Amino acid sequence: MDAELLLAHALGVPRVALLTRDDVDGAAAARFAALLDQRAGRVPLQHLTGRAPFRHLELAVGPGVFVPRPETEQLVEWALAQLAGVDEPVVVDLGAGSGAIALSLAHEHRGARVTAVERDPQAIEWTRHNAALRAAARDRPVTVLAGDMTDPALLRDLDGTVDLVVSNPPYVPDGARVPREVADHDPPLALWGGPDGLDVVRGLLVTAARLLRPGGALGIEHADQQGSAVPALVRATGEFTDVADHPDLAGRPRFTTARRTTRD
Ligand SMILES: C[S@@+](CC[C@H](N)C(=O)[O-])C[C@H]1O[C@@H](n2cnc3c(N)ncnc32)[C@H](O)[C@@H]1O
Repeated sequence: MDAELLLAHALGVPRVALLTRDDVDGAAAARFAALLDQRAGRVPLQHLTGRAPFRHLELAVGPGVFVPRPETEQLVEWALAQLAGVDEPVVVDLGAGSGAIALSLAHEHRGARVTAVERDPQAIEWTRHNAALRAAARDRPVTVLAGDMTDPALLRDLDGTVDLVVSNPPYVPDGARVPREVADHDPPLALWGGPDGLDVVRGLLVTAARLLRPGGALGIEHADQQGSAVPALVRATGEFTDVADHPDLAGRPRFTTARRTTRD
């Protein structure tokens, strides 16, 4: 699959066009060989093509930004279900990276007013770039904000008004073994989450509880070993109800959801 996608990239054609192609000129063959060498050296496919498919979008990616993963598409599916029937929901994506979640929500819910928060100065350049491309394609513009999702002053003007907070935060426990594509090419800030992987999640729960309106929805992606730990952390705040965990398509625990407590 990777070889086909790289050959198509070297030729500048869609993958399906390979089916009817029976020869490759010398220049394209040389480009293909160079790409194969890099891929064999464990450079991620998406860094070589410069693109990552995610739901209905194709995002620009490269060094300095986390490559969006297919598992996260289900978190977006869940998020869209929470927004169904709300004309102009207020949405915050904490840790936006390429903008995969924020821009998909804006694309698939045309009325959503989405803010994407990103702390990494390199990654946010990709967030801004992809947001500009989507705005040019006439999606409702997403607000991109440089900030720390654990900062008590973040987005103070939205306190108690947000319909949905969604996040795919860094959650890999420090020192865990990850594939070379990940270790060498995903940005450290996108991966490592402290001794149990949940340092950033603890801070994001405080921010989410402050931002969400009563009844507002929270969705957080996590590692497959954190299917009990993250729901327990969410419950322990005392700020959320309806805490549930959801599997990915491979059946592994993948994201936790909850609703902001409604007080009488
Ligand atoms: C796992 S990546 C997810 C990126 C994107 N949302 C996705 O699903 O592909 C986590 C992102 O959170 C950002 N991040 C990490 N810590 C953060 C913090 N404290 N505040 C804001 N963003 C943070 C990282 O730079 C990275 O872009």
